Amino acid sequence: KRPAGAPDRSLARPVTKVGIVGAGLMASQMALLFVRRLEVPVVLTDLDQERVDKGVAYVHAEIDKLLAKGRISNDKANRHKALVSGAVDKAEGFAGADFVIEAVFEEMSVKKSVFADVEKAVSPECVLATNTSSLSITEMAADLEHPERVVGFHFFNPVAVMPLLEIVKGEQTDDATLATAFATGKALKKTTILVKDSPSFIVNRLLGRFMGEVGRIVDEGTPVTVVDGAFAGVAPMPPFVLLSLVGPAIALHNNETLHRAFPDRFYVSPALERVVAARKASYYGPDGSLDPE
Ligand code: CAA
Repeated sequence: KRPAGAPDRSLARPVTKVGIVGAGLMASQMALLFVRRLEVPVVLTDLDQERVDKGVAYVHAEIDKLLAKGRISNDKANRHKALVSGAVDKAEGFAGADFVIEAVFEEMSVKKSVFADVEKAVSPECVLATNTSSLSITEMAADLEHPERVVGFHFFNPVAVMPLLEIVKGEQTDDATLATAFATGKALKKTTILVKDSPSFIVNRLLGRFMGEVGRIVDEGTPVTVVDGAFAGVAPMPPFVLLSLVGPAIALHNNETLHRAFPDRFYVSPALERVVAARKASYYGPDGSLDPE
């Protein structure tokens, strides 16, 4: 059955090579999923060779783990590893790609300049997908020559495990792009839903309300370990474990985007801002309090 709002699947274009902009945590998890499910060449790009090499090494290591667990054959592991490569130069790396997805820093100006760059490296039909968790697809596409091939393609962390994929249609996204996005999501074995191009889409908007309240409780003086403890057995991950998994900076950015859009409903916690300002990857202090030092 076609997901609600998805165009006719006959409009989908084949995906024979995938480009990924960024080689960080989400990007390299996506590379692993694409190579395993689509079995096509996947090219990671980033600002320098070191980051690119790290992204490719992650994918190779995860494939080795699957091999060690007996989940895949030696042949398949070798084949999948050979399909993943990296490049610093997008024009070289993305030549012939028909699906490029970006997972760079969550900032509109950065995403726009990445897409402007990618547009020079690929054909006009190549889908430009973004893994943004909160920003406007319409705005991200606005200055491109072909804004109709931009689509939101939002995975959740951990990418290998979380079943949902939010597909976001911008004002100018055309049916062929949308159909390709749905067909690709299906090939990746994800549950695809069409969501409106509104701040933080559906899941992160709901999570933003929840996390805002979590922030308030900590701002009122409750230790993070107590908040986590209150959730044991209620959700698969306690709030601060989940926030550490997602990354404090991304979580804060999400709440800031939502607060700008709906100031009466979303809260940006000063305590969480301090954690991000201190560039901490986790929230835990020695005594269960927030630890921004
Ligand atoms: N990366 C890859 N795979 C992982 C993983 C990770 N970080 N963590 C766990 N897994 C895999 C395990 O390998 C295991 O796979 P198999 O069953 O195939 O062996 C499977 O997940 C289950 O793992 P465990 O049994 O060890 O652990 P668990 O039962 O506690 O489940 C979890 C782990 C699925 C991550 C679970 O804790 C969970 O659902 N957590 C909530 C995650 C969540 O809500 N994510 C959304 C975050 S919001 C977001 O991402 C939005 C955004 O844009 C910022």
